[in-house]
Amino acid sequence: MTPYEAIVSKRDLRMYTDQPIPDDVMGRILQAGRMAGSAKNLESNRLIVVTDQAVQDALALAGDFASWIGSSAAVIGFASPDDQLRLFDVGRQAQNMMIAAHAEGVGTCPVTLGHPDRARAAVGLPDDWVMPMVITLGYPVADHPDSPLKRPRVALDELVRHDRWS
Ligand SMILES: Cc1cc2nc3c(=O)[nH]c(=O)nc-3n(C[C@H](O)[C@H](O)[C@H](O)COP(=O)(O)O)c2cc1C
Repeated sequence: MTPYEAIVSKRDLRMYTDQPIPDDVMGRILQAGRMAGSAKNLESNRLIVVTDQAVQDALALAGDFASWIGSSAAVIGFASPDDQLRLFDVGRQAQNMMIAAHAEGVGTCPVTLGHPDRARAAVGLPDDWVMPMVITLGYPVADHPDSPLKRPRVALDELVRHDRWS
């Protein structure tokens, strides 16, 4: 799989087998997140890898569209001091890791944690830290069904403008 093929074929997958993710595979996924750049080189984010069932179940209650995340092989949370949170940095780390995971045969999905206090309590974050997003990971079930959320993307000529708006 070329990098381009990995990027354009990656879809968000939410149904996983019980197979754990081997340490070497997870190591490469985390390394892909580590190598994302950060605004002003602050590198404020910390990644919390959650395989513990009770912690995953608590995280499921921190999102409004997260009920399924307890069946993940692993969840990776993006934690940051509240006053240093930069979602662009989170997005770069998340996408790096999701593409690396896809190339390893591991499915992923981003999940929003809209209840900050529950997210903080679930993983024991300090009071002045937040964890607004996680990604879930796991080996996809055979014949993974299409997500009801799956949509065709906006056409390229609608997405892209050249030089000026119109
Ligand atoms: C910032 C962001 C937040 C998301 N939050 C959730 C979520 O809370 N729960 C969920 O199931 N999917 C979530 N998703 C996944 C989107 O629903 C998904 O990217 C969209 O359905 C496209 O999926 P596809 O690549 O399979 O077409 C999120 C995606 C993004 C980019």
